[in-house]
Amino acid sequence: MLYISLQWCKQALFTTCAIYVFTCNFSFNLARADPLPEESDHTFAFDVINGLSDKNKHLSSKYLYDDEGSRLFTQVMASENYYLARCEREILINQSDDIASYINTESLNIIELGAGDGTKTVHLLDSLQNRKINHLRYSPIDISGEAIRLLRQTLEGKLVDTDLYPIEGDYLEALPKALTPDYQHNLLLFLGGNIGNFTIEEAKNFLRSIRAYLKDGDHLLLGFDLKKDINIMQMAYSGEEEGVYSHFHKNLLQRINRELGGNFDSKYFKRHPFYNPLTSAVEMYLISTKKQNVYLKKFDINVGLDEYEGIRLTCSKKSSFQDLQNLAKECGFQIIKNFTDSKNYFVDSLWRVNKTTQ
Ligand SMILES: C[S@@+](CC[C@H](N)C(=O)[O-])C[C@H]1O[C@@H](n2cnc3c(N)ncnc32)[C@H](O)[C@@H]1O
Repeated sequence: MLYISLQWCKQALFTTCAIYVFTCNFSFNLARADPLPEESDHTFAFDVINGLSDKNKHLSSKYLYDDEGSRLFTQVMASENYYLARCEREILINQSDDIASYINTESLNIIELGAGDGTKTVHLLDSLQNRKINHLRYSPIDISGEAIRLLRQTLEGKLVDTDLYPIEGDYLEALPKALTPDYQHNLLLFLGGNIGNFTIEEAKNFLRSIRAYLKDGDHLLLGFDLKKDINIMQMAYSGEEEGVYSHFHKNLLQRINRELGGNFDSKYFKRHPFYNPLTSAVEMYLISTKKQNVYLKKFDINVGLDEYEGIRLTCSKKSSFQDLQNLAKECGFQIIKNFTDSKNYFVDSLWRVNKTTQ
């Protein structure tokens, strides 16, 4: 099968006027409505076109969380099989006082990446407010405006003596905006197993970037899903085909329809979550159940999908305690303590920034 890169397509588009470029995988009409987005635009449109034009099609998990996606994810968290949220909630309800006891500082800026609706974090915030810290700020960062709205709702009347400074944006773009010299230390939260959405190399790069922004003695609390029985790990993302997880993932196709004028028909896609022992991750795909063309009206582009071709949406990496040790060491952090739930399914790991190493 012939595949052409987006760059090549653009070249053809601008140099060969009035020619209709067509490949099995991707095609453009020249009389399209909008010019193609540039990589530097950092837009949903660019990433979607880029991901769907790739030989191995993929869409970034961060785009799952538009307003509807964020609402659907709160239902995922409440579902029976999704043990991750339940286990982390148990940890934070029972052990937040213990976690907070390690944070000794006069003033603290609590920054949470991908905060979501904050219903678990609120327990930790409560414990931190009970510490003798003079000056507290909570800076939740989330790419989803709806998540920030739900979070404000959760926190209504619960923040006593804590300034709230929410930021809507991408993790590392928003992080510098949350940092301020006004606080002696930072506590960075990355909960819910979000770090598992990265490959191991992406996670290392991400943690090293974060470390560069933080001060010696700052802390991180990171949520990791632990390796366990394969059926339990897979079931968290499975459920029946029309279940809430399915709606959550297929909502990304609907989002492309809404925002880019696409004509994805969800009924011709089937979710395929499976545990891959080579990556130690549950990998999640949408599989096209027939050969089809999807049209993106906004850019007058056709995307071709073969029968059984997959679009990779996200992954959820599973870790061992040894993986955590290696990751912390390689990225310049010291593990202070691991806080696990009663089943040992999930861990919130407290790390300290150690600038004397590396
Ligand atoms: C799996 S949910 C977890 C939410 C929360 N941490 C929890 O444990 O309940 C992921 C959250 O991260 C946000 N998110 C995903 N990718 C992001 C990115 N690149 N930058 C900022 N927020 C992101 C989503 O909008 C969503 O609210």
